Amino acid sequence: MPLVALGLHHEQALRAFEADFDAAGEAHMPGWFADLAWSHARRVEVVSGWERGEGLEGGQVACTTRFLEVEGELTGVVNVRHELTACLRFVGGHVGYAVRPSARRRGHGTALLRGGLDVCARLGIERALVTCDATNDGSIAVIRRHGGRAFEREARAGKPDVLRFWVPTQ
Ligand SMILES: CC(C)(COP(=O)(O)OP(=O)(O)OC[C@H]1O[C@@H](n2cnc3c(N)ncnc32)[C@H](O)[C@@H]1OP(=O)(O)O)[C@@H](O)C(=O)NCCC(=O)NCCS
Repeated sequence: MPLVALGLHHEQALRAFEADFDAAGEAHMPGWFADLAWSHARRVEVVSGWERGEGLEGGQVACTTRFLEVEGELTGVVNVRHELTACLRFVGGHVGYAVRPSARRRGHGTALLRGGLDVCARLGIERALVTCDATNDGSIAVIRRHGGRAFEREARAGKPDVLRFWVPTQ
């Protein structure tokens, strides 16, 4: 499945992608951080700048964002952090990803994490840190599918425990 960088031509497709999460009552999209208030052109520019390490704010590290595009529809997003900070080591890790609710259980999550791991490999990251809530059965299954091994579980106040996995990138 093809992973693509966000382009100017994706404005309508991105709107539909975000509306899908809204309709399902999911406010949080792991892997997608561009401000909703920005114009589409600004989002394209800022997100591509982050990949080159430009325009980073408040502890943010360079990151690569790719969408899964299937027949003109954006079905998922993956974001690869080029390095880890203490904050990302706690939760977030190298790779965050999300599939739009209407397209789940069709293998897109599996393809997205594969794409994210390929980006990690190109960056020289041999094993990627991937974290998720201990209650997130879908993500746990996808991570394990790629050889991820949980090495830590940590309790958090008012939130599910966080699981941390190392996943080989090649
Ligand atoms: C987690 C997520 C990315 C999985 O995406 P997906 O496209 O449904 O994943 P896949 O279709 O590749 O699923 C692969 C396997 O994972 C398992 N799986 C997926 N969703 C599951 C769920 N909700 N419950 C239990 N198992 C699940 C299944 O074994 C599935 O294979 P199957 O459909 O053949 O049974 C998606 O549910 C999502 O975007 N969730 C919200 C954001 C999120 O949690 N991101 C990860 C942050 S760490």
